[in-house]
Amino acid sequence: MASVPSLAATVRQRVAEALSAALPEAASADPLLRRSDRADFQANGMLALAKKLKGNPRELAAKVVERLPEAAGDEENPVIAGIEVSGPGFLNITVADEAIIGTLAARAADERLGVPYAEHPGTTVIDYSQPNVAKEMHVGHLRSTVIGDAIVKILEHRGEKVIRRHHIGDWGTQFGMLIQYLIEHPHELDHAADSPSAAAGESGEAAMSRLNRLYKASRALFDSDEEFKQRARDRVVLLQSGDERTREMWRRIVDESMIYFHAVYDQLDVEIRDEDVVGESAYNDDLQQVVKDLESSGVAVRSEGALCVFFDDVKGPDGKPVPLIVQKSNGGFGYAATDLAAIRDRVGKLGADTLLYVVDARQALHFKMVFETARRAGWLPEGAARQLAFGTVLGKDGKPFKTREGETVRLVDLLDEAVERATAVVREKSGGAGLTEEEIAERGAQVGIGAVKYADLSTSMSRDYVFDLDRMVSLNGDTSVYLQYAYARIQSILRKAGDARPVPHPELSLAPAERALGLHLDEFAETLEGVAETYEPHKLAAYLYQLASLFTTFYDQCPVLKAGDEATVENRLFLCDLTARTLSQGMALLGIRTPERL
Ligand code: ARG
Repeated sequence: MASVPSLAATVRQRVAEALSAALPEAASADPLLRRSDRADFQANGMLALAKKLKGNPRELAAKVVERLPEAAGDEENPVIAGIEVSGPGFLNITVADEAIIGTLAARAADERLGVPYAEHPGTTVIDYSQPNVAKEMHVGHLRSTVIGDAIVKILEHRGEKVIRRHHIGDWGTQFGMLIQYLIEHPHELDHAADSPSAAAGESGEAAMSRLNRLYKASRALFDSDEEFKQRARDRVVLLQSGDERTREMWRRIVDESMIYFHAVYDQLDVEIRDEDVVGESAYNDDLQQVVKDLESSGVAVRSEGALCVFFDDVKGPDGKPVPLIVQKSNGGFGYAATDLAAIRDRVGKLGADTLLYVVDARQALHFKMVFETARRAGWLPEGAARQLAFGTVLGKDGKPFKTREGETVRLVDLLDEAVERATAVVREKSGGAGLTEEEIAERGAQVGIGAVKYADLSTSMSRDYVFDLDRMVSLNGDTSVYLQYAYARIQSILRKAGDARPVPHPELSLAPAERALGLHLDEFAETLEGVAETYEPHKLAAYLYQLASLFTTFYDQCPVLKAGDEATVENRLFLCDLTARTLSQGMALLGIRTPERL
């Protein structure tokens, strides 16, 4: 269905037309329209314009008013109901109640709520949720997963072709140690060693504990036994050259990790598809070519045996240039080489015109150097790649989140705790609502996981934030629980409405709280457009929070089912229903569920 122009867009256009009629020199000037507390909208553009043209802003504003078709009274269904010059030369604009409900009715008639598809969708490859094999996932992986998942959904919703890449850490010298140990202790990863009662939900935990055991045991031997160390190093060479038995053991370790990753993703309620898991190992065969091309084009040079790329503006504390090392002096490849090969694949083979990397801000220098290298090599168009760098998750002490013992906090422990707290909240709130234990557990998971995701997504991603579960599951304030309750409350109103249906009545005049809610509902499409263009999910979260707040005010001030006359009841039910649909579509784009009952 066709997209629905917002009232803001219509008003902006009308004012712009009147402005250029009043002042032909200002043909393409922006009237700078925004929502305002005094009227519905305020246009401030006349101020700067008059200044530039050395005219009087109030006079200019008055001329604009004269040129509006509405002002002449010859519009049949005027959008603008009132317009006046105020202050030094602003225009305060009120839109017609009829136009508000009329526009919302058009949105409601569309499954997409009038949100348009992008005019020129492209192909975006997004690199996110990239945990490391044989290691626990931590809060950094949480951020990448949650932010990446939201951005995938937001871009796909606009019609962008999105290719997901989980660039997992499945390659490197540490695998020599793990594989060698496994070859020498073939039963180390055997499942039979687990307690037979390990339930499906625990299989992820069990997999991780087997991997931890393998890691610890092989590490201990590696550190204490020189001969084992040598065998482990030889094993790396065999791994890289594709030796079959070595590869098979490597595969077992990766598979074991995938069991664990999938268990965490299930709990996080995030869909990760196996075909999108294309880890560092997948680029192994391309690394030689990367090196050859960089060397022959002169983009990279040999320095002390290593193949390096230098940058004028990247220097260490001693003032010496810090290069990007593509190949180590011993011939080994690292993280940079793999990322360069991945860029070639993504641009060259996958046809991406945008590359996104949802990765910790602490890797910003790495990506800056990698992107610049790829650009110099001609593999990456200028500006096509972008790191969506996220900040650090902090503990309550304001320092990077660690356990009391100074270890990284296991993601699964955090999620378990979030769900536990949320379940307690749901149980208490539901009181006599007659939810079964199973329902309470299901809602608890949806509320707890939603709380963790929302806390992450509602903060601008470049900022650090404190992981504070008390705040995250609070019913008041800017939390997902607050939004989920707003949604559930509306569903309960709609259930109680009996025969009364949500029907828009444009002929009714609106109460202030209805207007405020309606105008905000009308901004959904534009908000999403901005969010998709700037990759800022926190702006969607802020929009939804304001929507829930405006709904709360509306609900306090405007009785719905007891409104009296039938048309008002229907119209208010209509506003309720559209609010609920907007909330749930918006939350879904953030990866958060909206249960029907709470
Ligand atoms: N596995 C890395 C980590 O855990 C993140 C990988 C980021 N993506 C990339 N293409 N380098 O820190």
